[in-house]
Amino acid sequence: MSILVTGGAGFIGSHTALLLLEAGYEVVVVDNFSNSKPEVISRMESLAGQKIPLYEVDLRDEIGLSTVFENHQIEAVIHFAGLKAVGESVSNPLYYYENNIGGTITLCQVMEKYNVHKMVFSSSATVYGKPDQVPVAENVPLRSTNPYGRTKLMIEEILRDVYISNPDWSIALLRYFNPLGAHESGKIGEDPNGIPNNLMPYITQVAIGKRDELLVYGGDYETPDGTGIRDYIHVTDLAMGHLKALQRVKNVTGVEAYNLGTGTGYSVLDVVREFEKVTGVKIPYQIVERRPGDIAECYANPNKAERELGWKADKTLADMCRDAWKWQKVNPEGYSESLQKKFDSSIKN
Ligand code: NAD
Ligand code: WQD
Repeated sequence: MSILVTGGAGFIGSHTALLLLEAGYEVVVVDNFSNSKPEVISRMESLAGQKIPLYEVDLRDEIGLSTVFENHQIEAVIHFAGLKAVGESVSNPLYYYENNIGGTITLCQVMEKYNVHKMVFSSSATVYGKPDQVPVAENVPLRSTNPYGRTKLMIEEILRDVYISNPDWSIALLRYFNPLGAHESGKIGEDPNGIPNNLMPYITQVAIGKRDELLVYGGDYETPDGTGIRDYIHVTDLAMGHLKALQRVKNVTGVEAYNLGTGTGYSVLDVVREFEKVTGVKIPYQIVERRPGDIAECYANPNKAERELGWKADKTLADMCRDAWKWQKVNPEGYSESLQKKFDSSIKN
């Protein structure tokens, strides 16, 4: 029996697929490489010491997806595949609704056809919008402030309806907070296209000299140092949360949402200072206007995941900074193939 990982070539999917392999699961990856590169699969294979069945298939392609279920006995699906850039979702909402919602609907139809009813879904803390209070627990009213976030909200609702229609389904909705870091080997990590939207990839690109300075979006929030506060979580802790959720969906039916966060909030300047301390590299920054749509603070109450999944994040912000920096240093151009030789020699040294 295999676990199908959709979006398994992406940032979180690659780390999770690797952990599944290390835990002895058979893994099949489906990805259309719209936001990732095939190179990641070779690196995962070299880390895992085994071949990974890979299908370059778009989730909306029902026939292509059915082939995967024909060729493998799929026991459960961990569903990462989706587009995730908030700004792009505002300028191109239909692309987001079509890809994220359309892809999920086709996936559920194919799963239903092949009698597979266990799913772990990548939701997001974005479903809390601007929370009324922090730490935020799963049972507060949900809202979202952009089309990307609404795709997550709508998919959560769709998955609840799917369960109501057939109580054989077992679905975990994992609401991630802010994933950072990389695999400790330095071989896999986050590889954003163009100018990074997110804080840590921006910091590491400043550190390596690709960008001059960090723009800190807003210094006048009602937080202790005036900069925004988030719950940063190491991507390998997040990956472990999926293994725990998988064990749960294998044993109980129903739909449950879980926050995957640490429960601790750090400000932008906390992250900058920690990065400087861990790496010894100075990060020049300038405080500028707030970024539209940003909120002052958001961090998780992660108690439900600890209680019901037996999962708790244990890596520190220092670990996240160290691993993100190692990944950036070893792979200055991410997975770009032109730098493959440089990567190979730096791994040897
Ligand atoms: P990512 O872009 O690195 O990975 C997503 C993968 O899905 C990519 O490899 C992409 O090529 C693939 N994909 C997209 N649409 C597809 C389609 N129609 N068919 C097949 N493959 C498709 O993103 P990530 O950071 O690894 O995020 C994974 C999931 O977690 C996403 O659903 C994202 O919305 C969610 N999430 C991410 C964050 C974050 O900050 N990274 C936070 C909360 C939730
Ligand atoms: C973190 C903090 C910024 C960049 C986004 C999505 C969310 C989820 C995770 C998918 C904020 C500040 C950032 C920069 C900065 N993704 N910042 N300068 O906005 O909390 O969440 O990613 O589900 O949906 O919205 O993460 O890393 O962009 O920002 O000052 O160059 O860093 O203002 O306070 P965010 P982020």
